[in-house]
Amino acid sequence: MAGEKILVVDDEEMIRDLCSHILSTEGYAITAVPGGEAALRELDKSPADLLITDIKMPGMDGLELFERVKKQKPDIVTIFITGHGTLDTAIESLMRGVDGFVLKPFTQEELTTAVDRAVTRSRLQKENIRLKALIPLFEISKLLVTEIDLAHLFKIITEVLVQEFSVDRVSLMLLDAQTDTLMIRASHGLSKDLALQAKRRSGEGVSGLVLKHRKPFIITKGKHPDSDVMAALNMDNMPLSSMAVPLIGKDKVLGVLNVSKFSDPTFTTSDLQIVSILASQVVTAMENASLFEGLRESYFRTVQALVAAVEAKDPYTRWHSTNVAKYAVAIGRDMGLSPSQLEEIHIASILHDVGKIGISERIIGKPDRLNKEEFDIMKDHPAHGIRILEPIGFSPSIINAIYQHHERYDGRGYPAGLVRTDISLAARILTVADTIDAMVSERPYRGSISMETVLAELQKESGAQFDPDVAATARKLIENGLLKLGMHTYAQHAAMNERK
Ligand SMILES: [Fe+2]
Repeated sequence: MAGEKILVVDDEEMIRDLCSHILSTEGYAITAVPGGEAALRELDKSPADLLITDIKMPGMDGLELFERVKKQKPDIVTIFITGHGTLDTAIESLMRGVDGFVLKPFTQEELTTAVDRAVTRSRLQKENIRLKALIPLFEISKLLVTEIDLAHLFKIITEVLVQEFSVDRVSLMLLDAQTDTLMIRASHGLSKDLALQAKRRSGEGVSGLVLKHRKPFIITKGKHPDSDVMAALNMDNMPLSSMAVPLIGKDKVLGVLNVSKFSDPTFTTSDLQIVSILASQVVTAMENASLFEGLRESYFRTVQALVAAVEAKDPYTRWHSTNVAKYAVAIGRDMGLSPSQLEEIHIASILHDVGKIGISERIIGKPDRLNKEEFDIMKDHPAHGIRILEPIGFSPSIINAIYQHHERYDGRGYPAGLVRTDISLAARILTVADTIDAMVSERPYRGSISMETVLAELQKESGAQFDPDVAATARKLIENGLLKLGMHTYAQHAAMNERK
């Protein structure tokens, strides 16, 4: 289980040789030096996992060396060798955070036991820290794979970094394909102006260098070994420590994730590893989202084409779904629905009559009122619609809205005869929008209907066919001129058809 690098510091050559001999046979990599100054130089050249030092040495003593090393490398494991084994020294050293003790003269076993114990404890501590850091990472990765709304995804990432990693600033920059510049898409701790204006070309600033070299940087106290990075640093308001990690997609860099903090402790390479894992999950989520978006777009276009085909069967219903969507979204927006709910209402409106695909042209395009038998066939269209849409994976609220768009508030609708709020709000809105457009579209058997008649109908059917709140909202919007009704006459339809 060994392999750690150990630095032995003792002014007595015999002790150095003895330690080197015992510990190298245990599998540790040993370097031995005679004093404190030499130890610091050695640690600068090559870091060690473990420091074994004599306490009493000429020049810098063991305690001073320990203090100085700890500042540079807080997680180094330290064992004191002392010939003056008093309880006082032991207690003081332990209070200062020394990990173990060996009393001179020591046996081979005493030394190896002390080292093994200290190394094991430090490994466990490191594991614990790592595990603690990995738990939110695990939690977030579950979230990320299912998150398809990119703006929300970026918000989650920013929040996790701020809360779990105690960072003060985050900026997630994405490469804009058209301008070839990095632009901030989500941020924390930056002024709004800066977040909007910050742009970086490849090679420009630290983010630009990350983009160019496709590798992460970790900058501590304004220092980095690479002179290009040093030249790119903006020394104003310099954070104590920062990391910049590329978001690498399948064949190109998609962006850069920057995090920085102004207080101790500084970022370590293990922080960099964790943020890099997070960055790779962001990329996976982005790729999933764009894949899903592409798929959804193409499904949506296909189904929209189907709806257009249905509408083409009947010149009176051309533009129907587009009008219904316009009315339904306007009503929903006024009722305070969220953007994602409005998006669902929009989709449901466009697709609400897709089930008419299965119904014969004779019934759909019939200029007269439908008879009982024809109406029974027509009543199948909501169920038929969801049979088409369900396998495509539309959300349950879209499916429900479509299935329920002929339900009535008083329970006398179809197909299920649902009552009041058993009908989804989206469906209650869709019903009003659908009916408004049906009224304003001229039918050969009843001519065109005026806006006054539409308003009267909304009033009359409030609480019967319509949810009173939805009907009142529609009335208000129409009366205030906020909902422009597409008063199409048959002549207009014919003209539009000709233009197509
Ligand atoms: Fe319908």
